[in-house]
Amino acid sequence: MPTRKRAKGSPVRAVPARETETLEEPVAIYPGSFDPITNGHIDIIRRALRVFPRVTVAVAYNPNKDAAMFTPAERVAMIRQAFADVGERVVADSFTGLLVDYAERIGAQVLIRGLRAVSDFEYEFQMTMMNRHLKPKIETVFMMAGEQYFYTSSRLVKEVATFGGDVRNLVPEFVLQRFGERITKKAGEKRV
Ligand code: PNS
Repeated sequence: MPTRKRAKGSPVRAVPARETETLEEPVAIYPGSFDPITNGHIDIIRRALRVFPRVTVAVAYNPNKDAAMFTPAERVAMIRQAFADVGERVVADSFTGLLVDYAERIGAQVLIRGLRAVSDFEYEFQMTMMNRHLKPKIETVFMMAGEQYFYTSSRLVKEVATFGGDVRNLVPEFVLQRFGERITKKAGEKRV
């Protein structure tokens, strides 16, 4: 097979040998908006727990421009409730600012992201490359969601729930209740 010649002076982009040792206890973050956590997220976190000893589920928020339905504290509380059965293997937290800076602060070397359909790829690819540009030592690992969650996203679930559509099986029972409370409260506010 013909070998392609590298232009003189161009960098070799391989990971240096000294950085290829297997991490003894990798610290992994599963970042996202989680507004709110869905069964698709839960599926990814449970898959991640088969690979990593612990997973920090990190709610990203922007205090200046967050049009979320739930506050960061509420989102963290829902994640904790969803993983009450696994003890300290799932840690829920929130952060603002760059994800890679947060990862460095908590000593994480791995970012976990879920992939559903092919349409996720472009966005995920861009984020991975940008994060790698910012902190080359942080690796992103992708996990495929179960096929029953290929069309589940927080954005769609919220929209459907807001208009009274059925989102059972797409979010945990306690999230359904939170939707109910939030939507009733909003309707009450509009009436006055
Ligand atoms: O669940 P989402 O909304 O798809 O998650 C996107 C998220 C929160 C992972 C991404 O927007 C993020 O990392 N935000 C933190 C700010 C940041 O680091 N931005 C640059 C990403 S390349």
